[in-house]
Parts: sequence; C-alpha cells; structure tokens
Amino acid sequence: MSKTYVTTDRKGSVAVIRFDNPPVNALGQGLRLGIASALKEAETDANVRAVVLVGYGRCFSAGADITEFGKPIQSPNLHDLIGTIEASRKPVVAAIHGTTLGGGLELALACHARVAAKDARLGLPEIKLGILPGAGGTQRVPRLIGAEKALKMITSGDMMPAEDARTAGLVDEVTSGDPLDAAAVRAEHLAASGELPRARDKSVPGDKADLDKAAAALTGKGRVLRAVSACIEAIKAAIELPFDQGLKREYELFKELVESDESKAQRHVFFAERNAAKVADMPADTQAKPVASAAVVGAGTMGGGITMSFANAGIPVTLIETTDAALKRGLDTILANYKRSGRTPQAEIDRRMSLISPTLDIAKAAGADIAIEAVFEEMEIKKEIFAKLDRIAKPGAVLASNTSYLDINEIASQTKRPGEVLGMHFFSPANVMKLLEIVRGKATSQATLATAIAVGRKIGKVPVIVGVCDGFVGNRMLGQRLKATEQLLLEGALPHEIDAAATSFGFAMGPLAVSDLAGLDIGMRARRARGVRAAVADAITDAGRYGQKNGRGYYRYDEADKRKPIPDPEVEKIIVEASEKLGIKRRSIGQEEIIERLNYPMINEGAKILEEGIAQRPGDIDVIWVYGYGWPVWRGGPMHYADQVGLKKIRDWLAEQARKSGDASLNPAPVLDRLAREGRGFGLA
Ligand code: 3HC
Repeated sequence: MSKTYVTTDRKGSVAVIRFDNPPVNALGQGLRLGIASALKEAETDANVRAVVLVGYGRCFSAGADITEFGKPIQSPNLHDLIGTIEASRKPVVAAIHGTTLGGGLELALACHARVAAKDARLGLPEIKLGILPGAGGTQRVPRLIGAEKALKMITSGDMMPAEDARTAGLVDEVTSGDPLDAAAVRAEHLAASGELPRARDKSVPGDKADLDKAAAALTGKGRVLRAVSACIEAIKAAIELPFDQGLKREYELFKELVESDESKAQRHVFFAERNAAKVADMPADTQAKPVASAAVVGAGTMGGGITMSFANAGIPVTLIETTDAALKRGLDTILANYKRSGRTPQAEIDRRMSLISPTLDIAKAAGADIAIEAVFEEMEIKKEIFAKLDRIAKPGAVLASNTSYLDINEIASQTKRPGEVLGMHFFSPANVMKLLEIVRGKATSQATLATAIAVGRKIGKVPVIVGVCDGFVGNRMLGQRLKATEQLLLEGALPHEIDAAATSFGFAMGPLAVSDLAGLDIGMRARRARGVRAAVADAITDAGRYGQKNGRGYYRYDEADKRKPIPDPEVEKIIVEASEKLGIKRRSIGQEEIIERLNYPMINEGAKILEEGIAQRPGDIDVIWVYGYGWPVWRGGPMHYADQVGLKKIRDWLAEQARKSGDASLNPAPVLDRLAREGRGFGLA
C-alpha cells in the first residue's frame, strides 16, 4: 500500500493541506508530489478561496530530504513546488509549528503569509551541511529582513524564535493558540482583500555597504569555507540581480556545494551523529529510566563541568567533595565560568546555581537517579567510591564513571549491581564540549545504556557508544597522534611547524598547542603511571614547562596574551638535545609528511578499534573526533577522510613506515589491509 503523505480537509472556504512524513516532514519526493497535487486540486475547486499548509507531528518541516542529495531528483523538485505556491491565484498561508528549517522554511517563505506558533523556531541550517539554502532562501530572506540580517541568519545556521522572526519580518503573525486557526483566518482575509503578497516582489531593504562590511568581517579572518563565500555571493545576487536571475545564481552555487567534498563530509557527520547512539543489539522496546536528579562525585575541572551541564538542563544535581576547600574551589569555578561568557543573565545564573547542592557527605547521593564519579584517574580511589555508591545509591540508579582510560568492568566489579554501571566519558571543558563517550561494560544492562544515552542528549551532548579498552576510542587514537608528534619532534620538526601543518589541515589548534592548553603535567603523570618514556615530552616537563598554566610549555606565553603560543628558542634547544642524545640526525620535514604521520597511524588504530568491536561503526569514530577533538567537520572525521584518501595509499604508507621504523604497531590493521586489497574503503566517502 502506498503511503499517504498529504491529506486535505476544509475549514470554511479554506483548504487545509496537511503533510505527514514522520519524523520531521522532510520534503522528499512523495511529500512534494502530494503537496503539488493537493494544491492543484485546491486551485481548481471553485469552493476553495484560500489554502493553508500545515505539518503533522512535531514540526512544519525540517527541510529538503538530505538523503536525496547526490541522487537524481524526481519531479516535482522543490523549486517547482515552491514556484507553484508562489504563482497560486488563491492565497496560500503557512501555519508553522515546531522547528521549521531549510527547505521547509523556504517553502513557507514562498507562501503569501506565515503564521507561527509562539514556541516555533525557524532557521536555515544548510551551512552546517556545507551548502546554502538552495530553494530561494538566499533571495527571499534578504527581501524580507534585509541583506545584513539574512547574511547572519544564513551563515550562522542558527534558529530564530518565532517572536524574533516576526520582529525581523520573516513571519506575519505569532500566536499562542493553534497556528492553523490563525492561518485560516488570515487566509480568508487575504482572499477577501484580493491581495497576494509575495516576497519576490519586494526589493532588498538596507544599504549594500552594510552587507559588504558584514561579509568582510566573515571573510577577514582565517580560512573561509566555500559554503560561506557562496552564501555571500548569493545574497549579493539578491541585491544586484532581478529575482529570477538571483534564483538561478543561487541554484548554480547550491549545485556546486552539494557536489563538494566538504558538503559530503558534513552530511556524513550529520547522519553519523544520529546513528552513533543507536545500539545494534538494543531491543526496540528498551525504556530509559527517568532521570530527575543527579549526583556528581568530585568538584574538580571535570566534575564542575559535568555539574554545570546538568544544571544548564534544569536537572538538580548534588555536588560531592571531601573537603570544604575543594568544594568551595569547585563552586567558585562554576560561578566564574557562568559569569565569564557575559551572556547569561544574573537571574539565570542564580537559577542554575540554585540547582546545585554542594555537600561533603556522599550519602546525599542516595536520592539521585544517576551518580557520576569524576575524581582522579586512579583505580583504587574509583573502586572505593563505587563500593560506597553501591551501598547508598537507590535501587536502579545509574552509576557512571567519568574515567578516560580505566577498565569499567573492574570498577563495576566493586558493586553488587554491575548491570547499572557504565562509563560516561566527558571532554574538557565538560560544560562546553559536546562529545560523550558512553562506555558499555560487559555487564551493563540495556536499560542503563538507554538511560545514559537519554540523559546525555538531555544535557546537550552527542552520545557515542564505545566498548572497554585502554583510552576507549578517542584517547586510544590520540595516543597514536602523540607518539607521532614526539617522533616528528625528534626527527627534525619544531612545535610550530607541526601545529602549522595541523591547522592548515583544518584543526583550530595544533597538537602541541593543545597539549600546552591541557597542561603538560597531566600527560607526564599518565606516562609515569604506565612506565612510558617520551624523550622530548619528558625533557620539556623536566625543565618545569607545564604549558599555558605556567606560561611555558612547547611554546612560551606572554603576559600580554597568555593564550598566544610564541615559538621559544629554549624549547628548540631541548628538542635538539633530545635528538642528539638518541643519535637521531635531524632533517627538515614538509607539511604533507607531517599530516600523513599525524593522521595515518590514528586511522590504523581506528581500524583496530573497529575490528575489536570497541566502536560499532566507522562513523562513530568520526563523530568522536569531530565533537571531542576538533577534527574539522568538513573533512568528515578520520575514517571518512581515510576513504577520501584511499585505503590502499594509507595501507602502503603504514607498511613502509612499519618496515623503516621497526615499529610493529604501524603494521596495517588486518581489516584495513583487506579492504585496501579489495579496493574498498570504510564505506563512508
Ligand atoms: N532529511 C532527511 N532526514 C532528516 C532530516 C532531513 N532534512 N532531518 C532530520 N532527519 C532524520 C534524522 O536523520 C533522524 O533519522 P533517524 O531517526 O533515522 O536517525 C530523524 O529525522 C530525526 O532527527 P533527529 O534525531 O535529529 O531529531 P531531533 O528532534 O533531535 O532534531 C531537527 C530534529 C532539529 C529537525 C534535526 O533533525 C535537524 O536539524 N535536521 C536537519 C535540518 C536541516 O539541516 N535542514 C536543511 C536540509 S537541506 C535543505 O533544506 C536544502 C534546501 O535549502 C534546498
């Protein structure tokens, strides 16, 4: 039986066309066809004077169906449909609710009026997929709200609350009632007046100089992605060209972007992000347990950030420490972090702080639905805490460790409820970073897993399920990059050269600047705990250089700008001495080689992680690197990038490096070798 995407009913003389393509009314072929034929019927029905378009379910429409990109588009395409609406001789009014995005909003903008529910949000998020609004958004939005505001909206991809959209001129009316009722009234009025207002007939208000200034601010600093420059070009076309020519230019740019590697990478990450929290063996009827309160053990940097994430989401959280001083320090840091941005109103800061209950008594975790331990990375301390939590936590509560390396199974073994134990590995700063590695232990129950995923989403994180191993997915791969960095330094590269290669690849910061930011003493302690030596890294910390925190690390930092890394001859001396001690003859190393050496061993480790089942899918690894380690989203993550480079090239490179260096860990992972031999990739690019 074919699916019914559209139903039409009547409200007086108004035809109400409802579309239904769950979950988000993406404007795929079936829905487009359904709307087009319903419009045709309404146009020919003498009893219909006007039309209202409305979406079933949670939103009006989230836009074009992204899965159709790159495939031949069947008729009617979105342009044809939008053209039909705009050309209608009977007024068409959009009744907007929920999130109305991309092509969904563009369709509404072609209507003769728009009525939005009070809690609706509108946006053009195409930039986040590496494209521009390609169904008239870059031409109609500037005509409705001015070119400068349009530029901001389109290049940020941010959503606008309904009331702001009304003030700006994007919608005509906001209602606290059902937008369908208000839209029907408006449609009747329009029919009675004989008016058919169309965005295309307006000229773009405002001064082009303001647009040029805003565009220059966007392109003036650093790398400018093609999608951003294309948005600017399209909005300029809205000012300079007649509407239809502007539309044509927009479509040319849209097509160019859709076919670009950058957009393919961003679309891959969009779907990978949504897949990452799906657990292959989880029965569909698994229920997450409700989480109305949380407890965090440890008020240090991580514990504080996790506490903020819960408070930000409106979840009361008990913050537990062992001394007054540590508790006070933790709370002071939380408050300072809230104040730092300067964007959170004081009343909101007060509200969030009031959700945090500080205590020195771990027994206060008894009422929490979830308890997260965030203390030092020491197994014995963690075991002790879990044994205590086991005694006091209420039955069914989730017990999570924020460990970044340690064995969750060993931690769980300290409790009589290992099914309720798992890892929730946050990334620093935990109130900002979106990645959440959810570490599934061998006994973790499905309900515990589902609860951690749900709560992760609720506090604004991107959850990815991983298995137990040293460092899980992200840090285990990072270990390979750190090793490569150390070797590059020994063989001839300097910190600023390695970092320049990484930033030219697209990272916001290079690996050494990142180490300085994180604090070099942390890495030093981790190496010592494992009995690992690193000639350069050890020599740097032995010289008392701990990174930004004391103004000296792989770089030096000035009082004038404590965050700006400045190459330091003293560091060069330390590095050269380390090379000499090991008898390594230094040479100049080019950017291409640096990038290969930073990335390929990590990709190999990713392949091993897949083989061992630590990650469920290659896309999960990409999500981890994009959201936790600053991998440029337009390069799609390491595994997507590997597919773009070609696994054969990477396999041959690894084999050669393993042979030359004698480092067996560089031997290509069997799965990588097999895929390369078969001429395949991870199936991502
Ligand atoms: N096309 C295809 N599938 C889509 C989709 C879209 N535009 N938007 C969402 N989906 C799918 C998701 O992949 C997911 O599928 P799954 O259940 O199989 O994993 C499902 O819908 C639900 O999505 P979320 O899990 O993201 O649901 P949320 O409630 O958390 O978020 C949302 C809803 C805010 C609408 C979010 O899905 C979103 O941001 N979607 C993308 C919106 C977008 O980018 N629109 C522009 C599209 S491009 C365009 O319109 C081009 C035009 O200019 C020509």
